[in-house]
Amino acid sequence: DLVMHITGARPNFPKAAPVIAALSDRGVAQKLVHTGQHYDDNMSAVFFRELGLPQPDVNLGVGSGSHASQTAAIMTALETVVLEDRPALVMVYGDVNSTLAAALVASKLGIGIAHVEAGLRSFDWTMPEEINRVVTDRLADRLYATSADAVAHLGNEGVSADKIRLVGNPMIDTLLAHRDRFDGSRVRDQLGLSGRYAVATLHRPANVDDPAALTPLVAALSAVADEVDVVLPLHPRGAARLEQSGLLAHPNVHAIDPVGYTEFLGLVAESALVVTDSGGIQEETTVLGVPCLTLRPNTERPVTITDGTNQLVTPASLPATAAKALAEGRPTTWPIPPLWDGHAGERIARDVVSLLD
Ligand code: UD1
Ligand code: UDP
Repeated sequence: DLVMHITGARPNFPKAAPVIAALSDRGVAQKLVHTGQHYDDNMSAVFFRELGLPQPDVNLGVGSGSHASQTAAIMTALETVVLEDRPALVMVYGDVNSTLAAALVASKLGIGIAHVEAGLRSFDWTMPEEINRVVTDRLADRLYATSADAVAHLGNEGVSADKIRLVGNPMIDTLLAHRDRFDGSRVRDQLGLSGRYAVATLHRPANVDDPAALTPLVAALSAVADEVDVVLPLHPRGAARLEQSGLLAHPNVHAIDPVGYTEFLGLVAESALVVTDSGGIQEETTVLGVPCLTLRPNTERPVTITDGTNQLVTPASLPATAAKALAEGRPTTWPIPPLWDGHAGERIARDVVSLLD
């Protein structure tokens, strides 16, 4: 009974790592497929080195492309692999194109699908990830949810309760397991930062692909940088536009290449503030107790607002909200969502084993 994990983009790796480790502890036969959606060392291989992930058994090497061409390339290449190995279960993670492509392939071949991080909804159909989430959940046979609101969304969409398991957040398993190794000092030393700083990341198409959207964002981030040093690891999407935007000329804006997991979370853990449009970083800051200002009109992770440190901001509201967060300082106590306790991978593995029996 083989379990095949499909990964491909940066946020997949910290979600899959604890599940693979817990299944290995239970002696389950596994194969790890990397689609090649992300391929730069600092977007992919660094996570395998740091997170104790086994090397992928197969790399489909699809690379970048339009949504249709990338999804199609993953489907074509993955179909051959799945037909050869005939896994009992295909496991997919999060909401990237690799997730959707694998769910489509497995469902057409009549192979069971388990979706880790099911049920998150932004209700914003302009986000490619929302399409990926909804379709993947419709096709999945087992849906592992990180929060109660996700379970409720699935129920509202007619998914029967016996397919859904509230298991907690495997990305937080990874965070807690590697916390002792978090270390942002190399980057801080290189940038000459000894005092307070913020970390910013931007990569949502709605923010970085459209110059009309990027201009007010750049102005808002410059205003934050007037108050505090800003470390900005540049995701490849939008890096060129941000480089041309003039933002990087601000003396307090420190653009760097993407960094590996332990360095990134080392920077975040010691920061005064995070400004981001990432999904996963909303969750990580919630557990670390770092104020997070999310530059989006909505979030599929509202539990990080109700039970965490996240707030939604617009370019117009960012400067004042950041100034207030900096003045208040980091919270001394804050809520953490239920079951974000480091044991989600084990809960998932226990349930997967029951599916294989
Ligand atoms: C993808 C996911 C997004 C996720 C993000 C995490 C989809 C639809 N989007 O967005 O949900 O939040 O990953 O980081 O799956 N590139 C490189 N090197 C790489 C990978 C990409 O330079 O290793 C560049 C290429 O120019 C590529 C662009 O980044 O065209 C976008 O990559 P892609 O994987 O299509 O989407 P992301 O924006 O990374
Ligand atoms: N991350 C990282 N280095 C960076 C930026 C992000 O290791 O330079 C990690 C981050 O901590 C989180 C994951 O990458 O674990 C999230 O990826 P991203 O923001 O690209 O995707 P999203 O969560 O928005 O889909």
